Amino acid sequence: MGAGMAITGCGSAAPTSVLTNHHLTQMVETSDDWIYTRTGMKNRHIASPMESLSQLSATAAKNAIAMAGISAANIDLIILATSTPDDLFGSACKIQGLIGATNAVAFDLTAACSGFLFALITASQFIRTGAYRNVLVVGADLLSRWVDWTDRASCVLFGDGAGAVVCQRTKNGDRLLSSGMYSDGSDNNSLNLHYQNDDRPLVEDITVQQGTYQPITMNGKEVYRFAVAKVPEAIEKAMFHANLKADDIDWLLLHQANQRIMDAVAKRLNIPQSKILSNIAEYGNTSAASIPLALDAAVRAGKVKPGDTVATSGFGAGLSWGSAIFKWG
Ligand code: UT7
Repeated sequence: MGAGMAITGCGSAAPTSVLTNHHLTQMVETSDDWIYTRTGMKNRHIASPMESLSQLSATAAKNAIAMAGISAANIDLIILATSTPDDLFGSACKIQGLIGATNAVAFDLTAACSGFLFALITASQFIRTGAYRNVLVVGADLLSRWVDWTDRASCVLFGDGAGAVVCQRTKNGDRLLSSGMYSDGSDNNSLNLHYQNDDRPLVEDITVQQGTYQPITMNGKEVYRFAVAKVPEAIEKAMFHANLKADDIDWLLLHQANQRIMDAVAKRLNIPQSKILSNIAEYGNTSAASIPLALDAAVRAGKVKPGDTVATSGFGAGLSWGSAIFKWG
């Protein structure tokens, strides 16, 4: 049997400031009732000007490494899934420095809300080939930096956070049972954080573009339809390849975009609501952070136990989506 991987530690961190539905009613025309019944959200945590993506990620990473029972120096590779780095050149190396993972190579990966899942699957490739033994996967986003706080259709949805897992090589069997990644660029304009040009002539015939990124735009209905169609399909495929039935799944861990999406996916898969892991009421949609944030809460609460089978799926801008089934611990 070749090298397999196990997820042996998780950690998370969120800013302390909490933006409630009540706060949002003071900013845009909305209500606690509309937000809660349409999304399941009550609160979201918002990074202060003193907090950074790298710091939150480093805290999440340290917690994950401690749970795995290794030291930062044992980490061979760090993959940071984010769409909101502190530095457009990437923030993974900054995290490497902050946690003292002196032997690790580090890079960023961008796949919006699918980012954590894509990073986890990328990590599995390096582990299964025998290239690396211990990989730290971080999912972190501070979407509050890029939300249009006057757009009630999107500003109520997003929050900030960071989550991390440690993936380790195992000798006796692969605990990542199945996985898949998908993209559909034909629907790319459903969810964007666009760069907008600002032309600046330098010399005759040469003009550079020195623009800025613009706030998030989203066709919510379109993304909702896409998620409810594609996520069950991706999880069904993963279950098929892992030779598992719905009854074999202990926990359904979806990207926390909307409670209604989670409920609809569970229903489609014939998985009872009681198996859905959700922390959306407290954190909202934290993009690449949402899956490891929810996993960490569930593990630390003693809900998800070693050996439990977890079906997970991320989805979002790209459009992109993916699924994975793993045995925890
Ligand atoms: O992480 C990336 C993935 N993102 C997602 O998965 C998001 C997927 N989409 C969704 O979760 C939902 O589409 C939303 C929560 C964004 C919106 O829910 P919806 O049930 O699809 O509402 P809608 O966009 O159809 O809007 C219904 C009504 C509209 O009013 P009219 O046209 O019926 O008069 C909106 O203007 O609700 C109005 N509305 C609001 N009302 C109060 C939209 N936003 C708000 C708001 N408060 N915040």
